[in-house]
Formats: sequence, C-alpha cells, structure tokens
Amino acid sequence: MLKSKRIIPVAFALICLLAACKQKTEIPADLKMKVFIDGLMRKMTLQEKIGQLNLPGSGDIVTGQTTNSDIGKKIKEGNVGGLLNIKSVEKIRDVQKVAVEESRLGIPLIFGMDVIHGYETTFPIPLGLASSFDMQLIRQSARIAATEASADGICWTFSPMVDIARDPRWGRIAEGAGEDAYLGSRVAEAFVKGYQGDDLSKNNTIMACMKHYALYGAAEAGRDYNTTDMSRIRMYNEYLPPYHAAVKAGVGSAMSSFNEIDGIPASANRWLMTEVLRNQWGFQGFVLTDFTAINEMVDHGIGDLQTVSALALHAGTDMDMVGEGYLTTLETSLKEGRITEAEINLACRRILEAKYKLGLFDDPYRYCDLNRPKTDISTPENKKAARDFASQTFVLLKNENQLLPLQPKGKIALIGPLADNRDNMAGMWSVAVDHKQSVTVLEGFKEAAGDQAEIMYAKGSNIVDDPELDQRINYGPPGVDPNKTPQQLREEAVSLASGCDVVVAVMGEAAEMSGECSSRSDISLPGSQEELLKALVKTGKPVVLVLFTGRPLTINWEQQNIPAILNVWFGGTEAGHAIADVVFGKVNPSGKLPVTFPQNVGQIPIYYNHKNTGRPLPDGEWFQKFLSNYLDVTNDPLYPFGFGLSYTTFTYGDLVMDKSQLSSNKILKVSIDVTNSGKYDGAEVVQLYIRDLVGSITRPVKELKGFQKVFLKAGETRTVSFTITPEDLKFYNYDLVYDWEPGDFMIMIGGNSRDVKEGMVNWMK
Ligand code: BGC
Repeated sequence: MLKSKRIIPVAFALICLLAACKQKTEIPADLKMKVFIDGLMRKMTLQEKIGQLNLPGSGDIVTGQTTNSDIGKKIKEGNVGGLLNIKSVEKIRDVQKVAVEESRLGIPLIFGMDVIHGYETTFPIPLGLASSFDMQLIRQSARIAATEASADGICWTFSPMVDIARDPRWGRIAEGAGEDAYLGSRVAEAFVKGYQGDDLSKNNTIMACMKHYALYGAAEAGRDYNTTDMSRIRMYNEYLPPYHAAVKAGVGSAMSSFNEIDGIPASANRWLMTEVLRNQWGFQGFVLTDFTAINEMVDHGIGDLQTVSALALHAGTDMDMVGEGYLTTLETSLKEGRITEAEINLACRRILEAKYKLGLFDDPYRYCDLNRPKTDISTPENKKAARDFASQTFVLLKNENQLLPLQPKGKIALIGPLADNRDNMAGMWSVAVDHKQSVTVLEGFKEAAGDQAEIMYAKGSNIVDDPELDQRINYGPPGVDPNKTPQQLREEAVSLASGCDVVVAVMGEAAEMSGECSSRSDISLPGSQEELLKALVKTGKPVVLVLFTGRPLTINWEQQNIPAILNVWFGGTEAGHAIADVVFGKVNPSGKLPVTFPQNVGQIPIYYNHKNTGRPLPDGEWFQKFLSNYLDVTNDPLYPFGFGLSYTTFTYGDLVMDKSQLSSNKILKVSIDVTNSGKYDGAEVVQLYIRDLVGSITRPVKELKGFQKVFLKAGETRTVSFTITPEDLKFYNYDLVYDWEPGDFMIMIGGNSRDVKEGMVNWMK
C-alpha cells in the first residue's frame, strides 16, 4: 500500500512528461523539476536526506584544504545542505568541489550570507533605504548587492528583514523598514525583486530570504530575543503584511524568528509555518531557522533537543541553521514514530528545489567564476550608485533660517567622534564590507570644499566614554581615546570651533549600537556628546548636527537648541561623499522618516497609526484629566512618521476628489496640487492616508495607503493623483476575514503623517 502510494505520483509525472513530449510541447518547468528531484531522492539514503536539512557553521575554511577539514569530512558524508557567511569565491569554489566530487551523490551546496544592505559596496542601512521612499532605488541597491555577492560565490542572502518595529530601543529596528505595514510591504517587494531578478538561475541573481518570520520586531521592552505576544487582529493587520508581500513577490526562502508566538517559538509553530505561510499564503519556498533557533527552544522550555527538533520539522521548518538538532536527532525520532518519513522528504525536497531553481544542478559552479570579482565588485558605477542612493536617504529634521546648505567657503569646523571614523561608516551587518574602502565625512568634506574652504577637524569626544560599554559596541579597536580625557577632547574642539565660521558636529551612535543584540534603554546621544554639543553652541558659532543613528533617538535638547539637524542613519561605504553632497547643497535632501521619533523613552511604543481609544486627546492639546495622555509629556512625537524637510518648501493645495459618494467596486480619484514654493529644485514624498471612521472592529486614526515621490523644479506645480479602490479599504475583521466595510472614510494627503489636507467620502457596498 505504502509503496504504491509513492509510485503513483512518479508514474503520473512520467505519463505527463511522455504526453508532453509526444505533443512536442514545452515541458512545464515545475514538472521537469519534479521529475529530476524525484529521481534524485530515490537514490538518497535517509541520512543523506537529513544532511540536506543541515546548515552548519562553516568552521575555519582555508582554500585548498577543505577536503581535510572537519567541515570537509561532513560534506563528503552527505551531512551538509549548505554553508553560511563564507567570503571569497575561491573558498566557495573549493568547498563546492568537495561536495560535488567527493560526496556520494555530488549534490551541490547552497551558500548563504547576510548581504543586508550591499556587499562590498555598502548602501545605507535598511531603515535608511526605507527613508528614501523610492522603491526603484531600493530594488536597484538589492540588484547591485546581488551582482556583487554572486560574483563572489554567494547564491542566497538572508535578507530582507521585514519585521515591523515600533520600539526604537530594539537595535534591529535598523535592519527593517520601520513601523508601517504598507511601506514595509512595498520595501519587502523591492528587495525581493532586486535580489532575485526575473530568473533565479542567472548567475547574477540570488535567492532572497524574508526574515524573521514572524513578529520578531515586537520583542517586549525592545530587548532582543524577548517574548512577543499580540492579538491575531494586530498580527494580520499590522505585523504580517510585509511577510505576506514578500511571499507574493516570490521570495525563495523564509527564516523563522527567535521569539515565541502564542507561547510556541516560531520554529516549532505549525500554525505559523504551515497554516499561515503555506496554506493561507501559498508560499512555495523553504523555511530555515535562525541561528541555533531549534536548540534555543530547549531554553524556551518546550522540550529537549530531540523533542524540539521533531516539533520544528513537524511545524514545517525545513532547514536547521548551525545547531545540528536535525542532524543528530531526526533519525531516532523517525524510529520512535515521533515524525514521519514524509515530513523529512518534504523538507529535503524543498531544499533541493531551491538548489534546482538556482541552477546548481545544471552547473554547481554557476556562481564560482573566478574572474567575476575583478569586474563586478566595488566597481566605479556601484560606488557612484552607493553615493547617489545614500544622499537620497538622509532626513533633514530641522533647518532654521536655512542654515543648510553650507557654502564651501571660510573655515568650517568638522567636529565629533564620527567625523573621521572609517569603521563606523558602513553600519551594522556589513559582513562583506572592506572598511578601508569607506569614505569618511572628513574626506568627503575636504574633497567637496577643494581649495574654496578650509576644513578643520577635531574629534571632540568619544562615542561613549565608558570603556566597558565601548567594548560591547566595538568589534574593532577600542573607540575610547586612551590618551585624552573627555574634557580635554572637548576643550580642543571648542577652541578649534571658536576660530571657525561654522561648526558641523558629526555625532551619534557607533555602528554596533544598533543591529542584533544592541538594545538600548536610553536612546539619547551616547556618552558626553551632548555636553560637547552644548559647549559648541556656547561658542556662538552656527552649529549643524549631522546625526548617525540606527534608530530613532530622543533628541529633544538638540531639536530645541541646534539650528540644523541632518539625520544620515549609516550611509554605507560612500557616506562621506554623500553627506558632503547634501551639506553643501549638491543634492537637496528628500528622505522621510519611516518611523516615529519619540520625545522620550516613556512614550514608547509611539506610532502614527494608533487607535483613537475611547478617551482621545484632541489634536494639539496637552493634559486633560481623564483623557488618554501623560502628566509629564505631550502625546506628540518629536518627529512624526513620514516627516522630513527639504532645502526648498512644498505647498499643498486643497484635496480634490472626483466623487464624495460612491458604491461597490467604483474607483475614487483624489488629487492635490503640490508646488515647489522655495528656491531649490527638489523631491517631495506625497503621502496618502485613509481613515475608516466606523468599523466592526476599531480602526487606526490613519493608515498609509500610497505615496509618490515627485521631483519639482523651483516654482513648479504638479497635480499628484491617486486612485483608491475598495482593495485599499480592506482589513482583517474580528473573524480574520479580509474585506472592507461600507461607510465614511477620511482621505488625507500631505508631506508627512501629521500635516495633511483632508476630504470625506461615503462609500457604500
Ligand atoms: C540573525 C539573522 C542572521 C543569522 C545568520 C542570526 O543571529 O538573527 O538575522 O541572518 O544570524 O548570520
């Protein structure tokens, strides 16, 4: 009985193949793949199948010696499906050779890496890229990253991270697109399409991996790896859409998150991995765990390694990253009847399918052309793109009396611990970067100023002064100056500033203060940097703050006292040039915040698309007893979602709608005149928000539903139009049915989530 069950699908596939050949029609690609993998799997032993599910740490790989190494031995035994984070095409080719020539079946390995925001040419951190609100730019950055990575042997990236995050204490907020499900979904698609291109088997496309599925960004108190817990309604409406968007964009793989969901860690959560991901969304790729996530379920407290490995496989998690729980326990679990052979087969098939789609069975060395690194990595064109893209991601937070852009003339004091700091330019998760290639702000300024202005530099302060904290945030050499006290550094800077015409303070976080395991409970400017700023302001010189950060910071004092603030996130290897381009006005800043900046930590979580509550505080007001507010701070953010200034100004006309009442599947057209009312040409992100006034469940006060980035010459007016369909009104209701409900809707358009023009429409079914 069992036997015949297995034979029927194979026989069916063969009959289809024959039929297709007879009719001389093209054999469908899926069928070809199925027949190939069926054939291969028939030859595989159980142990070889389990081996495919194993993604071990690479160990110490030395080119030419793999075959004699520990990892080489495992590969030859058929115990490895792929490897992660190996840099260099020579090494990868060498390892692949062992798999192909020395393992029994010669199944090629898949090579993954955290190519998160570029490869050697590094782009801004993802939170920065999202600030561009330019999906073409993001897609192109991923395309370039894929070309460079694939030239160096990598065929798979652990990106994009699409976790919605509303808590800036969480360091990994830097790796995502911020707080909004709509923007997050568009960014997720752009990354996936950029990496994967139109054909995964080309040698310059790589497989994407959406992570961390799911809800990793909702870690309690912003502490990394912490518990998450939320209602299904919130999940479906606010946190799951970007993962779903990545699936719809055809993402090839997904990574499970470390956190639990409804009390079951993601890797073992069958509802999440099978019911939602595959049954509801139709995901066709494979799921791998995050780093040792299976083993960590022992500490989560849901069983020993054998139990949690069996639970993970049963849940629908196909590949085990680093921990080898699958490798060491699945065979026993099968014997004991805790899992089925069909479950092992399914996971193995999904991984083989990924290799097939990447073209590795046609040519295992497809991504191992030893000549490509020279022509494809860190090319002048890629560097140019990195410079250009970075300048589009900076957010101008304040610009009193048009202090910026600066004229390149006179004496400019460039002060701060990030002004001449090569290792901190690229930002967190820059696995492949060669820091030597990074351009510092000092270099960028000197090049931009040429002989027109004198650029004077002083460090002014450490990033942090506490040597122990410094050790935690520095993978490289210590950042605390061993020779000078913070006061000495400050005095030097103040004396230098006093002799200059203007001060540019380059300050903020170290790259490793955000990213994985970099949670902060105090998100103000670190160390004594604020003291330095205060001292610089006292000199009476105009001060521009160029702010490096991987998260929203609480910079109230700075907002009140510094005339110009340019938030540059971490801009990548070309950051120094890009910052100079913007500060000196070659590029007009156009970035908008993809995440709310709070006034203080106590306001967190603070996000623009909150609910109204039963006791809302009227806009613009502060304390009223028995309304939803604080005694000691207003409800306002420091900077709202979508906010960002320009060197020019944009004026919005009235919102025009082609109907005020409509029914069923009609389309509503809304438009608005946007005028560049200032002196500079520039780009504006025009944002569309909708509020559903009455629902069967409570609805947010507004939700982003569209945006367009338009470039307007000084004085130019453009009519910007959006079409709204019932699709834009849909949400998951109490029964998790995705539909829209008739009634009144407020339509809002503006240059940020706070300052909008409004109109009302009645939409019936
Ligand atoms: C991170 C993942 C990453 C993986 C592999 C983990 O610690 O959470 O985002 O892809 O390591 O490097």
